Amino acid sequence: MDDAARGRSGLARIRCVAVKAPAVERDPLELQIRERPVPAHVGIIMDGNGRWAEERGLPRLEGHREGSNSVREVTRTARRIGLQALTLYAFSAQNWSRPADEVAGLMDLLREYLESERKEILENGIRLDAVGELDRLPGFVRAPLEAVREASARNRGMVLTLALSYGGQEEIAAAAESLIERARAGTLPPGPLDVETFASALWTHGLPPVDLVIRTSGETRVSNFMLWQSAYAEFIFVDTLWPEFRARQFLEAVLEYQQRERRFGLTSAQLPK
Ligand code: FPP
Repeated sequence: MDDAARGRSGLARIRCVAVKAPAVERDPLELQIRERPVPAHVGIIMDGNGRWAEERGLPRLEGHREGSNSVREVTRTARRIGLQALTLYAFSAQNWSRPADEVAGLMDLLREYLESERKEILENGIRLDAVGELDRLPGFVRAPLEAVREASARNRGMVLTLALSYGGQEEIAAAAESLIERARAGTLPPGPLDVETFASALWTHGLPPVDLVIRTSGETRVSNFMLWQSAYAEFIFVDTLWPEFRARQFLEAVLEYQQRERRFGLTSAQLPK
């Protein structure tokens, strides 16, 4: 550095150069989607990680790893277009029966995700939550999960819920059990049990009903995901494997949802124009 570049102190002078912030390129589809109501709550069955890896001669875990990049991109997009809630089926109650090394790898990946995404979750006003038999998770996943949950508890942006060790039937059975306990303890008002009271005992209480369920990888099953909450959901099944399901594919699914007529048991003519 020459002398001219130094101040009297001898320290390098700070040169002020106007740097134009790089324009963030937005998919035009995103603007189109923002013109109409978006689903309040989207649930995603993230399927096809294993096949994505196998097609490339990679270990299955590499598919899950690439799948966490899709998680990041879809979460960012969902928040930007204004979803209230996004629920991701990250590990089912039945997934514990997979080979031990895959289960261990998935748990490591979840811990990594919770640690690496903490900053972005907090900076973007996202509230992180989890549903499922969380006490079955290893301590090294539960600890960062609880930490991000607590740190983000007052955030009012989108709620990102991870379904972990989750099963819809298990959730409904647990809700029934807790209501029976309340009835025994005399804290449940007597009389017929209505839908709202039952829903309040579910792990997802407080979340809006699921408007749209997306399943990737060409499978057309529900696989024990949000059985109660998706009673009136629209379902979109796409052939794309989860590691290749990114912002564009998510936006396309939301656009398809926006083109459907939701009747909730009414006739077309009864719907508000
Ligand atoms: C199903 O694909 C996917 C899973 C059982 C795990 C999903 C996990 C992730 C997307 C990554 C970690 C999650 C987060 C939130 C960071 P599969 O293995 O059944 O695929 P296959 O049907 O092709 O075998």
